[in-house]
Amino acid sequence: MTVQSFEGKSPEIGDGTYIHPSADVFGNVVLGEQCWVGPGARIRGDYGRIEIGSRTSVEDNCVIHARPDEVTRIGDWVTLGHACIVHNATIEDWAILGMGSIVSDWAVIGEWAVVAEGAVVRQKMEIPSRRIAVGVPARVIEKPVDDGYVADWTRFKGIYVGLAKRYREGLR
Ligand SMILES: CC(C)(COP(=O)(O)OP(=O)(O)OC[C@H]1O[C@@H](n2cnc3c(N)ncnc32)[C@H](O)[C@@H]1OP(=O)(O)O)[C@@H](O)C(=O)NCCC(=O)NCCS
Repeated sequence: MTVQSFEGKSPEIGDGTYIHPSADVFGNVVLGEQCWVGPGARIRGDYGRIEIGSRTSVEDNCVIHARPDEVTRIGDWVTLGHACIVHNATIEDWAILGMGSIVSDWAVIGEWAVVAEGAVVRQKMEIPSRRIAVGVPARVIEKPVDDGYVADWTRFKGIYVGLAKRYREGLR
């Protein structure tokens, strides 16, 4: 695992958070408790700051960065699917970013909103709470996030919190 300071700023890592040996976390980064950061993920706080809440999963090969002197904020219980990119955006609690999606500068993804696989959320776009955005560029579809989806994903998110503990004990 590469967790490195940059110009005197060191990542703050909360209790129970797991960072895979091939993931990189640099500089001005705050990661909450019981997060899971998967293989190949990069969280780069060099000229900007990255704040991530607790029990959030940053899956394999995700890239998180911020613009100079700005902040990327990611809440609690967020799921960043495999290989997604979050750049200078705000992701609120419980949101789900599908595999390979991109969320660009100043975009806001609301609580329990979902960005579909491969979607590109353009700069400054706001996805309201419990809505689903699909496509390139992303558009919000009529179908909302229903209670069944919330129940299923609450369980999946719990599995990732469990993985943070299992990886700490199981990767030897
Ligand atoms: C996005 C998501 C909520 C769609 O849910 P769903 O119940 O399968 O939705 P539907 O199949 O009814 O699709 C609804 C509409 O969105 C479109 N859509 C769904 N996924 C899409 C995608 N990835 N790209 C483009 N359009 C998509 C469908 O074509 C459909 O469009 P239409 O209404 O014009 O026909 C669901 O696929 C999802 O949760 N994706 C994220 C999965 C993921 O990456 N998880 C992280 C990995 S651990």
